[in-house]
Amino acid sequence: MIAKTTTTTHLAQMLAQARAATDALFGLVRPGAFHDRPVPERHRTIFYFGHLEAFDWNLVSHAAGVPSFHPEFDQLFAFGIDPEPGQSPQDRRSDWPERAEVQRYNLRVRQAIDDLSNQVSEQVLSVALEHRLMHAETFAYLLHQLSATQKDIPLVAPFPPCPTPVRTVIEIPGGAVTLGQRRAPLDGQYQFGWDNEFDGHEVSVSAYAMTKYKVTNGEYLEFVRAGAKPPHFWTWGEGQWWWRAMSGEVPLPMDWPVYVTHEEASAFAAWTGKRLPTEAEFHRAAYGTPDGEEERSYPWGDDVPDTRRGNFNGNRWDPIPVTATPLGDSAFGISQLVGNGWEWTATVFQPFPGFQPLSFYPGYSARFFDGDHYVLKGASSRTDAGLLRRSFRNWFRPNYPYIYAGFRCVED
Ligand SMILES: [Fe+2]
Repeated sequence: MIAKTTTTTHLAQMLAQARAATDALFGLVRPGAFHDRPVPERHRTIFYFGHLEAFDWNLVSHAAGVPSFHPEFDQLFAFGIDPEPGQSPQDRRSDWPERAEVQRYNLRVRQAIDDLSNQVSEQVLSVALEHRLMHAETFAYLLHQLSATQKDIPLVAPFPPCPTPVRTVIEIPGGAVTLGQRRAPLDGQYQFGWDNEFDGHEVSVSAYAMTKYKVTNGEYLEFVRAGAKPPHFWTWGEGQWWWRAMSGEVPLPMDWPVYVTHEEASAFAAWTGKRLPTEAEFHRAAYGTPDGEEERSYPWGDDVPDTRRGNFNGNRWDPIPVTATPLGDSAFGISQLVGNGWEWTATVFQPFPGFQPLSFYPGYSARFFDGDHYVLKGASSRTDAGLLRRSFRNWFRPNYPYIYAGFRCVED
């Protein structure tokens, strides 16, 4: 069982690093804004501050069979929300405890979890770790919506100028793709996956053509000039378009990917006589190869992710030009399939054949199999490198405008 102990220790170390990362993010919110609600369809910031620890504690205390020391907070901070539009929460500031009280709970929870980490499975620790990493990204979306007076964002050097993108369409021959991952990998190594990533299976894809780059702000501007509504991230002022960056508005960068909802992406695709790719077509473009070799781990091959390959892992707050990272191109020559913004697919979020919910968290994916969430693939600037595995699936409502998500078009 030495291997298990090693993995558990490694996961505990990664959890400690992830805690430091989320602590740093919460540290960017000014104290006076901690009980504000940056996005109407989500909780107040104070909820997320308590949620990461309450989630871990609910998970670990149940797995280890130990009693709670604060059932009220365990429940108050247990679950996030994803209401239908127009059904925003109505709670008041006074319904929530003060930050210092939540901080005391958090510290006690961390100590208790660290004392128990050798008594729970790798799977439980992985769920805690990945849940926190995903919240580090979704918390950035909330932070983005706070005004400059509510947060202190460290400056990042601007990205150097890049070649102007030239609209290019790449033909991709039909072929087989692997979706998801198998429950028992051939090498016998433990590899974590969420319930929605199983079972791995093959599907075949017919030939299609896909744009080399994500749709840019510049391309989408033509659509807006033709009468479409501007995306949430754009504002108009002083006779020009601006982009709402993390630290404030900048003149609309024409060579950055446009961030839009699924509805906007679909409308743009239809306007150009094209459509959004399916999840399988995304996989084929990203991980397939022209000569039919084994599918890659990442678009660029099997090398571990680094910043030359794409804009991910929290190195930057905002996007970079779509032409900025040619070293991350896929075998078919398609750019930035992983990083610089998630990509909407035409695929409704549904279970793969053989789906089994996690026994200790049955609703993780299943409560979103409602036909009103779409699969996103790839990654954004704020996606942790640990979440870049091929089988990872993201999903959101088609009209939720706050996420770092763009798209590209395909045609038959
Ligand atoms: Fe959560």
